[in-house]
Formats: sequence, structure tokens, C-alpha cells
Amino acid sequence: MESKIIAYDEVDSTNTRICQMAADGAAEGLVVTAKKQSAGKGRRGRNWESEAECNLYFSILLRPEICPQKAPMLTLVMAYSVAKAIGSSQQTMPQIKWPNDLVIGGKKLCGILTEMHMAGQSIDYVVIGTGVNVNQDRFSKELQEKATSLWLETGCEWECQDLLKQILAEFGKQYEKFLNVQDLSFLRAEYNQMLVNKDREVLVLEPGNEYRAYAKGITSTGELIVVKEDGSEETVFAGEVSVRGIYGYV
Ligand code: BTN
Repeated sequence: MESKIIAYDEVDSTNTRICQMAADGAAEGLVVTAKKQSAGKGRRGRNWESEAECNLYFSILLRPEICPQKAPMLTLVMAYSVAKAIGSSQQTMPQIKWPNDLVIGGKKLCGILTEMHMAGQSIDYVVIGTGVNVNQDRFSKELQEKATSLWLETGCEWECQDLLKQILAEFGKQYEKFLNVQDLSFLRAEYNQMLVNKDREVLVLEPGNEYRAYAKGITSTGELIVVKEDGSEETVFAGEVSVRGIYGYV
């Protein structure tokens, strides 16, 4: 996939900006990056603290010809691609907290926010926004127990632009495979090896229902397979529920 990159020093949110461009007809593959975001968006309406000049904030525009129910899988494709790109440096290997956070040593390194826009019954565009903590050397009091960066984990400075190139190259390859098979069968085994929740007890937070279970891995469509305390198996959809560790975030 050809990527045209538009790089800003500062924007409100790369997701917001690229959604405007998508609405104005921008083509698939467009990437918007920023050195700083004044209103970075996180999942579930939270904000994404976007320290200036040291981290990677980027969004990519996709126009996949797939049915809308399949779009959430793209988030897992991005998580997998970012983990692989970072791992290929041989310096550190992040794990994945289902469905799409990257963690090292139980702390969050990368978050992904996917937004989809429909045209009637079909997808108009999908935007995948990714924030990677790269060279941030300290976090706010509220975050320091929960967040980490590549710098903190490896003790060396990372080149943000090189990392972006690696991630985009990796994502381009995986996206093509995804479009061919339209499920996650091609990455499932490796994703499950990276899955920090695997064979661990998790708390499944469904709206109006909370229960403990053991996470077994993902299905080939990206749901999390969990075994409940009574031995029954369930598959959990990312859009509807979240999981966390019994004692904390993972
Ligand atoms: C999360 O809550 O884990 C998702 C965080 C996603 C942050 C990225 S930074 C680049 C892009 N622009 C945004 O406003 N959010 C995403």
C-alpha cells in the first residue's frame, strides 16, 4: 500500500484531522502524523496524553471493501503489526493486551483507536489511530504506574520516523493478507503467543455483567476465548466488553 504522509507539528488529534480529510475524499493509505496533539483521543471517550516531540502519534486512512462487522479486526492487525515492528529491532518485544493495547512489563506502551464511518450499509472509511510512547522519560503521577515507553524499557533513544516507516511497512503487508482472507487466521497463532492475557485469569466486564474467567486466546475473527469458573467456554467481543487482570491492568 502506497502511503502519503502528512506530518504536522501540532494538531488537535490526528484521528480528527484525518477523518476530515477522509470526508473530503482523501485516498486509502493516507497517513497523518503529529509531534504533539492538543486533544488526543483515547478509547471509551478518554483522552490520550500526548507529550510533545518525543512520541509517535499517527493515523492511517483505509477504505476496505469488507462488511462493516469485520472492521474491528483491523485494530488487532495494527496491534500485531506495531508489536512485530518494535520486536524486529531485537531490543524489546511488547506483548498484546487483548484486543489492541501493547504492554511491556505490565505497563502500557501503545494504544490504538479505530473509528469507522459508513455510507449507507457499507464502509466509507476506517481510521486507525496509534499512539506509541517512544522517548518519553517520565509520566504524570496518575500514569507512572500504568504507562511505559521504549526509552524507559531499553535505555536508549529511538528514532520516531524510522519506527513509523517500519510500522507502516509491516501494516501494509498484514493488511494485504487480511483483505485476502478477511479474517485473522493468518496471524492468530503468533498473536496468541504475544497475548499477555493468555492462560491468565481475567475479569470480563460486560455491560451489566462482570465475571472471572481464564483467557485462552483469540478466535480467527478476533474474539477472546475465555473459560468461566464453571468450565463453560465463551467468546468475548471487543466492541462490547473489556477485560483486565484480577489484580490490575493486565
Ligand atoms: C487508547 O485509549 O488506548 C487509544 C489511544 C489512541 C491514541 C492515538 S494517538 C494518535 C491517534 N490520534 C488520537 O487522537 N488518538 C490516536
